[in-house]
Amino acid sequence: MKREELISLLEKHEQVHIKKHLLMLSADEQKIFLKNVSGMNFELVFRLYETFSGKSSHASSGWKDILPPRVIDAGLSAREKENILPAGEESIAGGQTAVMIVSGGQGTRLGYPHPKGMYPISPVKGKPLFRIFSEKIRALSLKYKVPIPFLVMTNPETNEEIERFFGENNFFGLEKKDVFFFSQEMLPSLAPDKKLILKDRTSVIANPDGHGGSLKSFWQSGLLGKMEETGITRIFYCHIDNPLVKVDDPLFLGWHIKENADFSLKVVRKRTPDEKVGNFVMADGKPRIIEYIELPDTMRDMKDSAGNPVFWAGSIGIHFINTSFIKSLNKNGFALPYHRQVKKIKQEKGLEKEIWKFETFVFDALPLAGKICCLETLRDEEFAPLKNKDGKDSPDEVRKFMVNLCRKQLADAGIDVPPDVKIEISPLAAQYDKSKLAEKVAKQLASKKKDVYIDR
Ligand code: UTP
Repeated sequence: MKREELISLLEKHEQVHIKKHLLMLSADEQKIFLKNVSGMNFELVFRLYETFSGKSSHASSGWKDILPPRVIDAGLSAREKENILPAGEESIAGGQTAVMIVSGGQGTRLGYPHPKGMYPISPVKGKPLFRIFSEKIRALSLKYKVPIPFLVMTNPETNEEIERFFGENNFFGLEKKDVFFFSQEMLPSLAPDKKLILKDRTSVIANPDGHGGSLKSFWQSGLLGKMEETGITRIFYCHIDNPLVKVDDPLFLGWHIKENADFSLKVVRKRTPDEKVGNFVMADGKPRIIEYIELPDTMRDMKDSAGNPVFWAGSIGIHFINTSFIKSLNKNGFALPYHRQVKKIKQEKGLEKEIWKFETFVFDALPLAGKICCLETLRDEEFAPLKNKDGKDSPDEVRKFMVNLCRKQLADAGIDVPPDVKIEISPLAAQYDKSKLAEKVAKQLASKKKDVYIDR
């Protein structure tokens, strides 16, 4: 963006305070300012401001008819495994899938001074999340004898650090040519009176455009086209903060294919009706994810005749999405709606300021899909998100889930591990058969170590 363009944009939208600030900067500082804000879609944000001003943050979306959706239950999925799995495995082995991990969020609640993917989370080895996901992809790639592209979404503020981290760690055993970084867009945040807010002398406060931005930037960056040229038609999508994810799960993919879906999701049973995960429902005839608060009072705690919650399905950010569907979402401008998030930020002298962030959510693609498929999964096996510094969803809690899952995998293989032993299994060892695994575990336990790591 040129200086004059920015000045006229600021004048048009009554941002005199920013114009004044810009004009008092030195020529060099002005250049930095322009570089920092270039690419930010100011017109979009000011338009969104007009749409949202006057609306309460939690305005009900006014659905007339909300029903429980169809979900393939975990039990059925396990029983049908033999019929469903081969289609998924064939698709992976045929080089039709790529794995997208979105890691462009700001990780505000965790408060870690680096991108969340760099957080050393694994219980024994302290592996960072990026390494865990890379190893899961490598294990699959070895098993199916096919390269599986790893698509990492960053944001403009974290892109350099993340790329450097992969480079310094030899791409965690993956081939450099199979790892692709793409950045989502930043949108300026606004004060409730529509004013842009200075972050420092040469930038304004901005936020990444939400995980839904992945479906825009993947296409806009040309990466989607590049993937399709190599035969990729299905993208496995997940969030960087959940180390339990079964990456590119062939059984899930089998269901996605069997149901001929454009967009698929996994859900878990919510712990409590008001747990902070999106609620998967049919609203006015369309599958959607809505907030608990959007469920009418009469429905929130509704039970069926057996006493089970009617609206039990919580979305956990795990999807298969067809590339053709992502293209259709971008055909006439980006199709996903923007949401306003009201956040508090700390300013000088501990003062708090309210800001409005505008974001898109990936699950808003659901009602736009021709066909969808939803599969239940078990929380203990696939959902332990790293969100907070302490308490719920904290590193300690996530590590407990990780250890318990390894313990369960071993117990299923008939291997007992004493309760006081902390155990971690490398994703690269996960393909071992029972006897090899048992041998490795026995060897480690014989040394009376309390921290056991099962490597390849
Ligand atoms: P969250 O909404 O939990 O955000 O993201 P966060 O950044 O991890 O944490 P807070 O809310 O600031 O504390 C869920 C997933 O979506 C990604 C995150 O990186 C995480 O993997 N995400 C979120 C993006 O990639 N871009 C975004 O703009 C927002």
